[in-house]
Amino acid sequence: VDKAQILVASNRGPVSFSIGADGSLGHRRGGGGLVSGLSSAAEGTDTLWVCAALSDADRKAAAESGDGRIDRVADLGGMRVTMLDIPQDVFDNAYTGIANSTLWFVQHMLYDTPNAPDFGAGFRTRWADYRAYNAAFAEALLTGSDEGAKVAVQDYHLALLPRMLRGRRPDLRIAHFSHTPWAPPEYFRLLPADIRRELLEGMLGADHLGFLSPRWADAFLRCCAEFLRATVDPVRRTVEYGGRIIGVEVHALGADADGLRERAAAGDVAERAAALRERVGDRRLIVRVDRTELSKNIVRGLEAYRELLRSRPEWRGEVTHLAFAYPSRTDVPEYLAYTERVRRLAEEITEEFATPEWTPLVLEVNDDFPRSLAAYRMADVLLVNPIRDGMNLVAKEGPVLSERGCALVLSTEAGAADELGADALLVNPYDVVETAEALHTALSMPAEERSARCERLVEAATALPPARWFRRQLDALR
Ligand code: G6P
Repeated sequence: VDKAQILVASNRGPVSFSIGADGSLGHRRGGGGLVSGLSSAAEGTDTLWVCAALSDADRKAAAESGDGRIDRVADLGGMRVTMLDIPQDVFDNAYTGIANSTLWFVQHMLYDTPNAPDFGAGFRTRWADYRAYNAAFAEALLTGSDEGAKVAVQDYHLALLPRMLRGRRPDLRIAHFSHTPWAPPEYFRLLPADIRRELLEGMLGADHLGFLSPRWADAFLRCCAEFLRATVDPVRRTVEYGGRIIGVEVHALGADADGLRERAAAGDVAERAAALRERVGDRRLIVRVDRTELSKNIVRGLEAYRELLRSRPEWRGEVTHLAFAYPSRTDVPEYLAYTERVRRLAEEITEEFATPEWTPLVLEVNDDFPRSLAAYRMADVLLVNPIRDGMNLVAKEGPVLSERGCALVLSTEAGAADELGADALLVNPYDVVETAEALHTALSMPAEERSARCERLVEAATALPPARWFRRQLDALR
């Protein structure tokens, strides 16, 4: 067995700190399959996770530990964590200015191109800070790593890191994994030429690149061919560049069924479920759970629900739509405006249809994880309609927890459609009428068909649980 040291690098780390009323520091393990998967993969190995301090409490924790190294936080399988206290302005420019406002928008094709940024002087300043942010990770990893260590770099925040590491430490074995889609060259080309090159070359500093869907991997290969004139083998998925051959693979992250079921069996989830039942009675439930995020297409989802109630009046009074939206990236102005649109539309729908006996729509914009799990358990229909999504784990987690076997209405543009397409009701996320019809079909589906489909969805959704997904990234570095 390969006992090499494992290093993980990601913007958001596996723990977050909080400051209690008495000023003392508490910590909470992050939710989500990635953290539980990595913690279990880290058991018995020497693992260091380098991440950014994201709050004042994180910064305090990093400062108190001296060099920012918060060693052996409990309940992380013995994994060590280093939180980088990056100067606030550098962090904001890198995270909000570049990662979330530029790279996220490009990979999800969210720019309305006539109004896309001008990439002027302000952009260049932010880009310099994005570089500095990546360099801060490189420093921490270089200090923390043994000869021959394996480094698993995560996501678009750290696209420049692989090349920075390789330049100084060719002994390291480096993987980079993209949790987002990758834009096709026709759209990626809106970035300035030198920035395109720096991003692609940054990623190609790795030995191995991972994506969530063949669609994203192939788009990346096409960008390398077009913008770097690299030699690309689209069948074996390799890129030859700078005298090296870089392997590109698809690892379709699945749901962590055991972890989810265990969490969903807890008392706080049962309490939330009871409270929701109280509120909606025995009506059928259409559930959606998202970060409040432009790519999630919440507005069109609500429009589709309105269309359902308009065109199929038989469902009035019979169904309630639960829309749970976690606040996200509230420093990005587009997100705030989008949240406002979601709220306004929800009010309009309520105004149009609500009666004293019936609440057609419950929209909650706040963070309540146990309530989301309760909604998954109770769902008759799960609506996942992103305009573009790397994977979308809600589509995989919901069916695992649904007690009566939910029907899944799923966008073709989510990576998850690759695994779930056969048993979901696939929709074009732009087509509100088609989505409304799919909601009707889902609600009308005979119970046996629904649960048979749901069983197959669960099987497909759990085919590559997080621990094995992570293992595959490391194995690719052998
Ligand atoms: C996506 C990204 C992740 C990110 C997550 C939450 O899934 O791929 O890297 O952590 O969204 O976004 P946030 O900005 O809150 O970390």
